[in-house]
Amino acid sequence: MMVADFPLWPEQASTFAKDVDALYIFLIILTGTVSVGIFLTIFGLAIKYRRRPDNELAQDYEPPKILEVTWIVVPTIIFMGLFVWGSWLYFHLARVPDDALDIYATGKQWMWKFQHPTGQREINTLHVPVNRPIKITMASEDVIHSLFFPYFRTKMDVLPNRYRSMWFQATKTGRFHIFCAEYCGTLHSGMIGWVEVMEPTEYQKWLAGGSEGSMASQGEQLFQKYACNTCHTNDATGRGPVLAGLYGKDVTLSNDTTVKADDNYIRESILNPQAKVVKGFNPIMPTFQGQVSEDDMMKLLAYVKSIGQNTAPATTPAPAGAKGTNP
Ligand code: CUA
Repeated sequence: MMVADFPLWPEQASTFAKDVDALYIFLIILTGTVSVGIFLTIFGLAIKYRRRPDNELAQDYEPPKILEVTWIVVPTIIFMGLFVWGSWLYFHLARVPDDALDIYATGKQWMWKFQHPTGQREINTLHVPVNRPIKITMASEDVIHSLFFPYFRTKMDVLPNRYRSMWFQATKTGRFHIFCAEYCGTLHSGMIGWVEVMEPTEYQKWLAGGSEGSMASQGEQLFQKYACNTCHTNDATGRGPVLAGLYGKDVTLSNDTTVKADDNYIRESILNPQAKVVKGFNPIMPTFQGQVSEDDMMKLLAYVKSIGQNTAPATTPAPAGAKGTNP
């Protein structure tokens, strides 16, 4: 393919690389053509209408209506087309497929930390299977970073104090660069890593090696460590709401408004419990701000998610032995 051979572009290694490049190239050609056209016209008219003895005085000129209509209608159609094309692409990039494999990422001055639901953790390297949608839920431990996969043509800012998620589907196996694309301090330029795209069988083999139990089961241990389980019991007699079956449901708050129990709601309820108190409960929960690292927050989230689905912890096709390895 022409674009892949042209060294100005990195290799196309994801499902949306082609679409992003097509829009980008179209914009370059369009703006390039218009710019060249404008400059040529300026030069041409400057020469044609240069000052001569017989045209010292400017003459009034009424352009034909058809000319005015043309320069209004044609750009309008092109811009509306660009708008439709751009938003179609944007929604495609923004909408995470339901069957995506979950990965959790933490940005930190100056490294990328990744966690797999089955418990594997890695720094500045991310192993993923090829031809499978990958969802990355991410947060920053300190300042704003930006997780950038140039070969996959996707990038998203990683923010402190909230979760965001991005996705991609790699179409080629191999090793591809990861960059931080938001200036984040002295070693910003060193905040780089690699994504290793593997055949699914290789990935399963990789997953089978070394894990401290699934993220959800590590989260369950944290749930006990922070004594969350003393109030959030499994029946309605607890001082806090029951968390089983909560994830993704609507919650009615003490002010009678409703919120969806998504990633950011659960995060906020742990770090700033008074912000949204569930109807029928007292605002007695202490804050955990400053006590739980971002990595641990993601494990707690994975645990709450896992009991939310009313399934056993470990939400991915876990290799045998990855589950239930905890004492
Ligand atoms: Cu992190 Cu730049």
